[in-house]
Amino acid sequence: MLDYYRVAGPLIRLLPAEAAHNLSIAVMKTGLVPGQPRDDDPSLAISLWGRDFPNPVGLAAGYDKNAEIPDALLGQGFGFVEIGTVTPRPQPGNPKPRLTRLVEDRAVINRMGFNNQGAERVAGRLAARRRIGIVGANIGKNKTTEDAAADYEAGVRAFGLHADYLVINVSSPNTPGLRALQGKAPLAELVGRARAALLSLPAPRPPLLLKIAPDLTDEDKRDIAEVALESGLDGLIVTNTTIDRPAGLISPNRTETGGLSGPPLMEPATAVLRDMYRLTGGRLPLVGVGGITTGADAYRKIRAGASLVQLYTALIYHGTVQVTRIKRDLAALLRKDGFSHLSEAVGADVPEAR
Ligand SMILES: Cc1cc2nc3c(=O)[nH]c(=O)nc-3n(C[C@H](O)[C@H](O)[C@H](O)COP(=O)(O)O)c2cc1C
Repeated sequence: MLDYYRVAGPLIRLLPAEAAHNLSIAVMKTGLVPGQPRDDDPSLAISLWGRDFPNPVGLAAGYDKNAEIPDALLGQGFGFVEIGTVTPRPQPGNPKPRLTRLVEDRAVINRMGFNNQGAERVAGRLAARRRIGIVGANIGKNKTTEDAAADYEAGVRAFGLHADYLVINVSSPNTPGLRALQGKAPLAELVGRARAALLSLPAPRPPLLLKIAPDLTDEDKRDIAEVALESGLDGLIVTNTTIDRPAGLISPNRTETGGLSGPPLMEPATAVLRDMYRLTGGRLPLVGVGGITTGADAYRKIRAGASLVQLYTALIYHGTVQVTRIKRDLAALLRKDGFSHLSEAVGADVPEAR
């Protein structure tokens, strides 16, 4: 396994975090980054929503916000790639600096605030690509929009014909008021209007997912499960970054404002995943995200109820070669526990929901 990141990673980390991110996108755009093997173990393939995922390891939203390099990222071995968050109108996001590494914790804190080029431009890029490989679009609201649901309707209309799945993101901590949309009444209205916008598009229509925060009360989780099952949502992405600062963080940067991601998020995000699997009775496909670095982490998410997983922060510290390692180790862990296929392990640690 060629691990160019062992050399490049420490050099890239000499740059401020957002400059490093922009550089990595520019380098990937050149097409010169060697791809990772894509001959995935057959035990890792899974079909959901009529789509065939070659493996369950996806790239989480926020890395390729503007859909500049989804195909290059699929070439790095991801089973699927999520672009966005995209808002209807372009917006600059929060003032810089807005992305900080917590090197000692292998974590980051971001307060990007949905910087993106806007739905028209980004959807145009998806429309222009050959549709090989699964690319989902994560949609959000502009900072100044009053009628939040109208922005999600616009996002659904812009991306509905060009994305393999859609994600309603109501869980980023960096847009004022956004996470309040996870409350029962606003959520039911929002999902209802987004679904109506989707149904106004010609078939075949993509599945509609909802991405939730890790910072939820038990009542919030019950309400979200109820709305998800009643409103015809097709799945949940669990979870976004946390505004909490779990005990044990050692980096002095832990006091930065924003959403924390990486290993310190693994425990809390997996606990919410397990809760949502139980509360939805295993009837909705769940995407487990938050703190995955290793194949063992991905396996824990699957056993807690995830049919797919995603990661972002691990790439900052380990590069895309980590995707290949995760897939290899995940296939070995399934075999070791006597599962011939990933789908058999989904929710294995939540027997009350199976
Ligand atoms: C710099 C950065 C930007 C992000 N931007 C978005 C975003 O625009 N939309 C979104 O839904 N999640 C966003 N996320 C959250 C990730 O998709 C993911 O849910 C979170 O980072 C936890 O996964 P991880 O621990 O593997 O990074 C962002 C995360 C980071 C680190």
